[in-house]
Order: sequence, then structure tokens, then C-alpha cells
Amino acid sequence: MKGLILLAILGLASAAVHQHNIQWRESLRMEMIRNGEYAAYLEYQDTLRRASPDVLASLQENVNDFGDYEYLGNITIGTPEQSFIVVLDTGSSNLWIPGPTCSTNCQKKHKFDSTKSSTFVKNGKSWTIQYGSGDAAGILGEDTVRFGAAGQPQLPVPKTTFGIASKISADFKRDATDGILGLAFTSLAVDGVVPPLINAINQKLLDQPLFTVWLEHRGALNNVGGGVFTYGAIDTKNCGPVVGYQPLSSATYYQFKVAGFKLGDYSSTKAAEVISDTGTSFIGGPSSVISGLAKAAGAKYNALEGAYTIACNAQPGPLDITIGSHVYSIQPINYIVNAGNGQCLFAAFHFASGGFGPAWILGDPFIRQYCNIYDIGGKRMGFAPSLQK
Ligand SMILES: *[C@@H]1O[C@H](CO)[C@@H](O)[C@H](O)[C@H]1NC(C)=O
Repeated sequence: MKGLILLAILGLASAAVHQHNIQWRESLRMEMIRNGEYAAYLEYQDTLRRASPDVLASLQENVNDFGDYEYLGNITIGTPEQSFIVVLDTGSSNLWIPGPTCSTNCQKKHKFDSTKSSTFVKNGKSWTIQYGSGDAAGILGEDTVRFGAAGQPQLPVPKTTFGIASKISADFKRDATDGILGLAFTSLAVDGVVPPLINAINQKLLDQPLFTVWLEHRGALNNVGGGVFTYGAIDTKNCGPVVGYQPLSSATYYQFKVAGFKLGDYSSTKAAEVISDTGTSFIGGPSSVISGLAKAAGAKYNALEGAYTIACNAQPGPLDITIGSHVYSIQPINYIVNAGNGQCLFAAFHFASGGFGPAWILGDPFIRQYCNIYDIGGKRMGFAPSLQK
């Protein structure tokens, strides 16, 4: 079991290092305004959107569920299109996929061949990214990146810079994903590379500068339809009315304040900084609170596996998370995960933030219960009940 938890959260230390990049973007805009280039730039963005009738103002991208551990979507890169399967990860900000020089750990991966793409632009700068679950390194390139599978409705984002990995760590080897597509802010991006979705927003390709994530619980099933990412709109088909919005305390990760956690007779009312992270399978928090919640649920810590086991038919109460003035209740069906071998896990883990950055990661169990609206323009998170029962 150990190692099955995909932790696609970016190494926390690097977040602070890259915060200056927001200022860099701001000053670029100021410079354009000063030079009288800004109007022409906006016009260019507008023509980009109108140039192609295929460009949608919003896009629904399906994801497949892998045992309620990870949710993967399809993208294509280049002309003609080369297809990749990626983690759509709100806990990081870089896109990378394997390249032809990646051999170790890349045997089963799709690899991007830049020599076969007529729209590819060389960059050549090298990059390295540390994730909670492993690392990757390579060079940067630029091409058209499309959200969605080939032959399906897509959101093409021209002139997107991404990483072409020449090496990936063993952690990624056994994973069904080719790479990772980070959906968080540019300020979190390694090397300040503008993330694909932020690039789409900057090019005015979306109706609204936000996206909605709806994730399903499909139990131990693998590679089955498991949710939808809606770029540019609130998903009103799979999500009920928005219960509340919470301002981001930091627009790097999708980071905000939580007032408390409660399960059964255990509660913690210590306010905490949390992030919403589609790329993390479980809910992570300080060991003292996680162990209190787990005990109240009747889960037992298995040190060997580094995980909390719980009877598959257990019926503890909901895990209540207070955000702003609202209580969000996560039902056991969303926080008890079937490990596939007759064993079930309480989907929480000890997360040591090291005293800076977020102290909690609200991963997939939270997002399965509540659609998360990542309101990039409004710098806030919205939460709406998932309509899946
Ligand atoms: C992504 O593409 C693969 C085949 O390359 C397919 O098996 C899978 O169902 C696709 N996923 C989605 C969510 O459409």
C-alpha cells in the first residue's frame, strides 16, 4: 500500500522561492501600457480567440478514475496532435510529459517527439521539479496544448510552454499517467513558466477565468469515467448551487483558511491554512488532528503500510470541515477508500508542512463530496454539493 498515495503536490519549499513571478507579469503589463503596446496586445488576444471556430468559450473535459486514487485526463500537444494522459493537478503549476530521451522509468509512457510537430518552438532551457511523490527533469519547449482527447471537444491553447522530461523518478514508473498538468497559479510554477490554463485565460480563450472540478467515487474500479473538469464555467450539471465562497489567502496553491475539523466526538477548532488539491488522493494534515479524527472514525494506524485501515462496512459519522460560516460534511463513502484486496483505508495521512505554507491538503475525498470551483479571477474557492449520490 505504501507509495500508492499519489502526492502530486509541489515541493513546498519551492513555493516561496517563485513568488516573485507574479510581480514579473505585472511589470510586463505595465511596460506594455507605457510603451503603448497594450491595446495591440489585447487585440491580438481577441483575434486568437476568434481565429479558430473550434475554440470553445468553455470546455468540459472528462477524467477517468483509477481506484479513487487518481483521476487522469487526456491532452494533446503539437501539430499533428500527439496524445498524453496526465494528472490534472491543482496542487502544482507546471505541465510536463516525457520526451524521446527518457528511457529509465519511461518504457510505458507516451513520448513527445518535437521533430514531428510543425508548431513546435524550441526553448531549450532546463528544468527540474520535485513533487511529494517523486521528481522529473528535462528541457522546456513551446507548442499548442489542447485540453481534451483528440477527436473530442477541445480547448486548444497556442504558444504554451511545457516541460519535455528526459528523466522521471521511479515513483511515476508504475503510474498510469504520462505526466502532470499543473492547474495552480504562475507564482507557484518552477522557472515562472505560465501554466497552460493561465495561458488560456491570458489569451482570453475562456468565458470566465475559473474552472470547476467534479470527481466521482467509483470504488476499486480502474480506468472508468470518474468526473469532469469544466474550464471557463461553473458546472451546473454535476454540481448543486454554490454553498459558499472562501477568499484565497495565497494565490499560489489554491490556499485558504479552514476554521475546524470534526468527526464523531473528536474536534479541532484550531484555524488552519489548507489547499485544495486534485492531485492528492487523501486528506493530509497535522498528525495530532489526523490521528484524533481517525480514532473517532474507528480506523487503526498500520505503521507498516503508513496508512489507516478501517472496516469496509464501517459506518462512522461524517467528517465535518468548517470553512467560513459553513460546515461541509464529507460522508464515509468519500473518505473510506477500497484498497482492492478486501482492505479499506481511512483516506487521511500525516502531512508535515514544516511550519510554513499550508498545514493541510484537502485532496480527492473532499472534492468527491463537494464540487470545487477554482475562481482564478476572483481569487477565491467556491464549494457546491456534488450531485453524485
Ligand atoms: C484517454 O485516452 C485513453 C486512450 O488513450 C482512453 O483509454 C481513456 O478512456 C481516455 N480518457 C478519457 C477520460 O476520455
